[in-house]
Amino acid sequence: MQFESDVSLGSFNTLGVMSRAEYFCRVNSDADWLAALDYAKTRSLPVTILGGGSNVVLGSALVGLVVHPVGNGIDLIEQTDGYAVVEVAAGAEWDRVVRHCNERGWFGLENLVSIPGSCGAAPVQNIGAYGVEIAQFVDSVRVLDIHARAFDTIHGQDCGFAYRESHFKGAWRDRYAIVSIRLRLSKTPSVNTRYAALAQALTRDGIDQPSPLDVLNTVAAIRASKLPDVRTMPNAGSFFKNPIVNTDYAKKLLAQHPDMPLYAVDEHRSKLAAAYLIEASGLKGYKHADCGMSDDHALVLVNPGHGSGAECLALADYVIKTVQAKFSVTLDIEPVVMGS
Ligand code: EPU
Repeated sequence: MQFESDVSLGSFNTLGVMSRAEYFCRVNSDADWLAALDYAKTRSLPVTILGGGSNVVLGSALVGLVVHPVGNGIDLIEQTDGYAVVEVAAGAEWDRVVRHCNERGWFGLENLVSIPGSCGAAPVQNIGAYGVEIAQFVDSVRVLDIHARAFDTIHGQDCGFAYRESHFKGAWRDRYAIVSIRLRLSKTPSVNTRYAALAQALTRDGIDQPSPLDVLNTVAAIRASKLPDVRTMPNAGSFFKNPIVNTDYAKKLLAQHPDMPLYAVDEHRSKLAAAYLIEASGLKGYKHADCGMSDDHALVLVNPGHGSGAECLALADYVIKTVQAKFSVTLDIEPVVMGS
């Protein structure tokens, strides 16, 4: 295994920020992970794990050792007539795993197709789309405890999954590296078409009994039609979480903005569409130095000029303040900020 110094991370983050790692290595096995920890310990370097880089805002420099998982294994661990448990390496590309599982007849992940990034990052922010979250399928997560230098297994129900949240993003942020995840998938081809935009697209295409593959293809088409492609327009997906507010307040806003989308969370809370709030604040397509809010989808911060992480965060701050002034709702950014 090789350790490099002063490595450009320009191609390791989909937001296209020009950042540098003080030290950098790729890991592909338990032995590599331990060698990386030893290297960092000997030199007293902090360790940062960087996966597909699709949900991060990087500072101009990442001090210490940046560890990039590269394994791409997808292994069937256990199966019955009803389900299959599949273990995927942290470095495996998420979209490839979704398509592979669907081809093998291991169902459930179809609504999560086309999400950029690696499998190790998927549980961190509990990736979700079109009515489905990865939390529903996580049997367990194999981790490396960075300080104890020991591997461990954490059950899905103990990971603290919530909307775009987990303990890996919160209290465990600097403690664990995710090495692999086990997903429990169904061998019965059921589908989830409750998300309105998905149901409408299927109806429009005349598909009334959709197969899992129909759902996969339809979600991929919806995403391609409305989200900017990271390969041509640097971005980190949704830059803000959809805010959850008290339902009484949400109803007040609805009275003033009758076209505003509103989703019930529970008896007292509702989720608003951050994209709507940003567009209604006049910021869809707003340009700020090298970055801006996408013309295609108001929730996506794009960085065509490869502006710095600080520039992107300054724009995010402006968006937060503008939405706050108009709606009295505070948006939270979704990606993880790394480095200075
Ligand atoms: N809208 C606007 N302007 C826009 C885009 C959308 O006003 O430019 C409004 C529309 O009224 C629309 C509503 O916002 O009905 C919701 O838009 P959309 O269906 O695109 O979903 P979203 O809430 O903006 C969330 C996730 C996406 C996920 C989609 C589909 C978050 C933060 N984002 O977006 O996830 O793909 O739902 O489930 O929850 C991501 O996390 O990177 C991501 C793309």
